[in-house]
Amino acid sequence: MADGDQRKLVEVADPAALARAAAGRLLARMPDNPAFIAICLTGGSSPKQLYELLATEDYRSKIPWNRVHWFIGDERFVPASDERNNMAMARRIFLDHWAPSANIHPIPTDAASPDEAAARYERELKAFYGADELDPARPLFDLVLMGVGPDGHTASLFPGYPALRETVRWVVGVPEAHVEPFVPRVTLTLPALASCREMLFEVSGAGKRAILTRALAGEALPANRARSNGETVWLVDESALSGDSRAA
Ligand code: 6PG
Repeated sequence: MADGDQRKLVEVADPAALARAAAGRLLARMPDNPAFIAICLTGGSSPKQLYELLATEDYRSKIPWNRVHWFIGDERFVPASDERNNMAMARRIFLDHWAPSANIHPIPTDAASPDEAAARYERELKAFYGADELDPARPLFDLVLMGVGPDGHTASLFPGYPALRETVRWVVGVPEAHVEPFVPRVTLTLPALASCREMLFEVSGAGKRAILTRALAGEALPANRARSNGETVWLVDESALSGDSRAA
């Protein structure tokens, strides 16, 4: 099913099916060629099951680890050792076991400020991409994973915040968060996130029903404004879908 704005909605039964569907799509983005593959991970609780699946033999044996580079779409400005750190969760569950450390690209939260961390990460992304300007014909990422917060935020792009209007910078500091954890954030901007072959949202659980209904009704939420220049897919499970959103 695709809605008016070319977003594809894929319904699955439950969180386990959602993780399997996401893992399948991630593997499908790893074509058999010698080029580097760039995956932009996300934080929050939604991707945890996916990360656990990627650590299992069935999946990890299909990942060409030397060629895949792992980035993160947003970070809480806390030390890497803090359990709220987004990249730390991915590292703990699968990256540190299987990915070469040079292929793991965390947002540097040891910087003096979120703005400095953002500037450093932007430089790292540009060095990886090999240019200072994004070329629509050559996406920065093969796959960008995303989640949706209760207020409709995605990455650390909160409703009404200036970061949403950024058109030049690839990464910005966000002095305060709109939802827990209330720590400063660093986030990729809409144009940087859009530069991908596929943007994949994971939306699961009854707690997401209200915001999913609003998103599917087309409200101008950050999560609705985040679109890939390629394919945008929302993977949603049955418990997140209410009668209203099914009809939408
Ligand atoms: C973060 C995120 C954030 C998250 C959504 C959904 O740092 O919190 O990157 O954008 O994806 O808030 O969070 P849940 O998956 O926990 O519902």
